[in-house]
Amino acid sequence: MSEIAVAVARLAEAGVESPRTDAELMAAHRHGVKRSELNLVPDADFDPRFWDDIARRASREPLQHITGTAFFRYLELEVGPGVFVPRPETEVMTGWAIDRLNEMDVADPVVADLGTGSGAIALAIAQEVPRARVHAVEGDPLARPWTERNIASCAESAPHTRGRVWLHGGDFDSALAELNGSVDLVISNPPYIPVDAAVPPEVGEYEPTAALYSGSDGLDAMRVIERAARRLLRPGGRVAVEHGAVQGTAVYWIFAEENGWKETRNHSDLAGLDRFVTAIWP
Ligand SMILES: C[S@@+](CC[C@H](N)C(=O)[O-])C[C@H]1O[C@@H](n2cnc3c(N)ncnc32)[C@H](O)[C@@H]1O
Repeated sequence: MSEIAVAVARLAEAGVESPRTDAELMAAHRHGVKRSELNLVPDADFDPRFWDDIARRASREPLQHITGTAFFRYLELEVGPGVFVPRPETEVMTGWAIDRLNEMDVADPVVADLGTGSGAIALAIAQEVPRARVHAVEGDPLARPWTERNIASCAESAPHTRGRVWLHGGDFDSALAELNGSVDLVISNPPYIPVDAAVPPEVGEYEPTAALYSGSDGLDAMRVIERAARRLLRPGGRVAVEHGAVQGTAVYWIFAEENGWKETRNHSDLAGLDRFVTAIWP
């Protein structure tokens, strides 16, 4: 059996959801090659530290904590303990926001990313909408050093983002008061897991609690985001919020016409699951 095949079997036995992908990505990371180049690393030359990585993953530590990296759209972000690992489903909502911003008839659109974590959404927007000015809000002091590092490294790899992304400490409820009524787009992937919901070990044991849970129905933070979006947006501004796969209807009603919103829409992720809601502030 090859080294990779042994590692795959070990991860599968530990209950890891995608054992081959994870084993290959860890091997590629450890040997400094692309996944497609792993055939160039003979079994005899495998770095013994690969087996330490596999042991960590078998104990259900997230893959991205082991490699120290998460990929998000065209970004490579630093992640680890204290910050939420960005997910592929959030890329779809971010893409929607990027498309709307690129169509907007506004010279330098102002964006607020509420609960920025690693900075994934804020930095993807800054990278892909060169004129955008992006305000990233994060309440968790353990997460903010990760955001700061990612903002700095993005300024190196994509110099047009330099001086266009600002990190603000603070709470959704009161953040960015100086921008009240002037923001073109509010976007957020808030915590949305009900407090008593079961989650896999990669999430429950390693992700920051503040990034995950939000009251008995998971929507406490969403209600705060709705109020914050109402306060921040200019007339005609847009909001996009991510939610759990079974929360689409509930979130629709939080952003419904009864609360002053128009053109409220549910959107799916790439797996076809209900994943985010968008609306316009009239
Ligand atoms: C699910 S994570 C999303 C992180 C990032 N936007 C992403 O999509 O990868 C939610 C983030 O919101 C932050 N957060 C939670 N409640 C907050 C609050 N009331 N005020 C400010 N930030 C908050 C958490 O610390 C966490 O970083």
